[in-house]
Amino acid sequence: MDRETVEPSVGTLPGPKATERVDYHAEFAAPSTYVYGFVWDILEDATGPFCTDADGNVLMDFTSHVGAAPLGYNNPQLRERLAEFELVDPLKIAGQDFYTTAGDPTDPEFPGPAELMDKLTQVSSQYGMDTVFLSNSGAEAVENAMKICYDDTGGKYAITFDGAFHGRTLGALSLNRSKEIYRRKFPEIPSIHDVPFCDDRTCEPSTCSCGFFAGGVSQLRKMLDPQRGWVNADEVAFLIMEPIQGEGGYRFPSAAFMAEVAELCDRHDILLVADEIQSGMGRTGEFWASDHYPIEPDIITAAKGARVGATIANEDVFPGEKSRLSSTWGAGDLVASMQGALTIDLIHEEGLLANATARGEQAKRTLREASLSAVEDVRGTGLMLAVEFDTRERRNAVMDAAFQRGLLTLGCGHKTLRLLPPLDVTEREIYLGCDLLAEAVDAVA
Ligand SMILES: Cc1ncc(COP(=O)(O)O)c(C=O)c1O
Repeated sequence: MDRETVEPSVGTLPGPKATERVDYHAEFAAPSTYVYGFVWDILEDATGPFCTDADGNVLMDFTSHVGAAPLGYNNPQLRERLAEFELVDPLKIAGQDFYTTAGDPTDPEFPGPAELMDKLTQVSSQYGMDTVFLSNSGAEAVENAMKICYDDTGGKYAITFDGAFHGRTLGALSLNRSKEIYRRKFPEIPSIHDVPFCDDRTCEPSTCSCGFFAGGVSQLRKMLDPQRGWVNADEVAFLIMEPIQGEGGYRFPSAAFMAEVAELCDRHDILLVADEIQSGMGRTGEFWASDHYPIEPDIITAAKGARVGATIANEDVFPGEKSRLSSTWGAGDLVASMQGALTIDLIHEEGLLANATARGEQAKRTLREASLSAVEDVRGTGLMLAVEFDTRERRNAVMDAAFQRGLLTLGCGHKTLRLLPPLDVTEREIYLGCDLLAEAVDAVA
């Protein structure tokens, strides 16, 4: 498969082998969130955003495994580095409960958990962060962020935003305010309050349409007001936000909204947790989405492209007491950490932040110029891109029509389609993906 020339080439999807494989999987797996009859054949050709399915169809993946594969399929530099490590030797992958070394820490033969933490603090040093707790998933990164905030402040309240998604474990799900399915019937952590999230990139207090500044004064300010508010700011353990909401609909807030949140956190000494699990690791053209806004998070949660869960903050915020935070896998899975660390290296070495910015602009320009029918908005920062339709049904139909043309996309929010091409996506690939999406929109219209 030549990345310079390959194009999607598909028959009717899903094909018979894919259907068979999906049925086999479904026989044993709890019903999960998989949305496609798409089955990636890992033994067949794949490169960049292109991959081959079980029936030999070539598809173009603009989901990057929901951002967990930021370098696309078979990134040659990543493969080359990983291939040098003999993954098959069990001694090399056992013992994640111990410290590991692969030589001089300043120039190790292979990066492990310590090197990953080192690199994560380097990209977060602008926020004074120098310490990391590693875990297995995004939800665990959030759980541990919550724990360190409760521990550090002794506060009982927490603040979240409407449309938020922070994971599916019992603590993290208490913070969710997107679809009700995530919380229905589950016990929740008490005393979590929510305020509107800004989904208007140009929102100002005087012109607010998102509800946050309704009446000219923000809901957060009213909530925390010492005289008339209903939450005692001194008892707030943390405020958590996705700087750009993912699951909730790829909602991009205004600078005024962010400045207000930052000002109030600062004024009331409230720990600000930025959940960067979807928006981080270079997706938006900066390493963290927070870097685009006038905010200074105290804690960052990362996962997906980092290949492990990571709770990042200044050492002062973390409990010093042994066992207060811990896990068998707390030193980070060795192979996953290696992949996360190499991914950070490649983002820098290959100039992928600049590429994400340029290709994201190209995608938005191309989709806007195409004047697609029933599209209400095309938006994005870097390669965190969204197309919003007039109805949920149309969004779903377009996703299916795109799939039938060999383009994988994802839904989010109520009627939004999201695109997450790999960070090294090329100009040709963006045009190709946009053409396929435009064809899908036309077919549905
Ligand atoms: C913003 C955000 N937070 C938390 C999570 C939970 O991550 P995980 O699925 O790895 O538990 C996700 C997953 O999509 C997410 O997008």
